[in-house]
Amino acid sequence: MKWESSLMEHLQWSDTITNRESKERLARMIAMRVQEGEVIGAGSGSTVYLALLAIAERIRTENLHVTVIPASMEISMECVRLGIPQTTLWMCRPDWTFDGADEVDPDRNLIKGRGGALFKEKLLISSSNRTFILVDESKQVSFLGSRFPVPVEVFPMALPYVEREIRAMGASRTQLRPAKGKDGPVITESGNLILDAWFSNIHSSLEKEIKSVTGVIENGLFMGYDVEVMVAK
Ligand code: 5RP
Repeated sequence: MKWESSLMEHLQWSDTITNRESKERLARMIAMRVQEGEVIGAGSGSTVYLALLAIAERIRTENLHVTVIPASMEISMECVRLGIPQTTLWMCRPDWTFDGADEVDPDRNLIKGRGGALFKEKLLISSSNRTFILVDESKQVSFLGSRFPVPVEVFPMALPYVEREIRAMGASRTQLRPAKGKDGPVITESGNLILDAWFSNIHSSLEKEIKSVTGVIENGLFMGYDVEVMVAK
């Protein structure tokens, strides 16, 4: 079908996945957890994509019935391509959710949002009774902020104000995230900007402090969420 083939052209995961073998092990593990008739939240990123491949395989070979609530348009398009039925948070609540992360500390606090889908990912995780975070060893850090800045999704007109407030909270540096391979900034699915903020001290109340700034839609800190972390060596 013409529509499907043009859809395929926009899906470009294949050669760009880091630590692919570890992520494939996680993908198989999460796919085995899926039970007949469940509704499952799927975050975003390459680990989630690989898990969807493994779930699609079970749908094909075992005639498993499963419905996915995707956290991004990209993941939704993958579900279309793989023939995985979808629904939305308007229709129902997920039985459980799986997602990746960029950093995980020893207390299971997370930084997410390298893919820019942090708002819908947090909405999905907050709507779920149970969440599995799938990470390879490279994502484990002794403290958050070791490798990545905190992504902050910002309503465009609020950018100068939010940037000042975030710096006043102790960010040593802030940068508007540039779009990959073209001029201009990243624009999220909700039409907002991503401001990356570097903090040397990420404390337990920082997530809520950032969120309280007018113009901040969401941020990529997940402090104290009841998540189960699955690590692949
Ligand atoms: C996207 C995310 C991803 O879960 C995170 O970036 C991990 O991605 P990957 O599985 O590709 O390593 O938070 O917003």
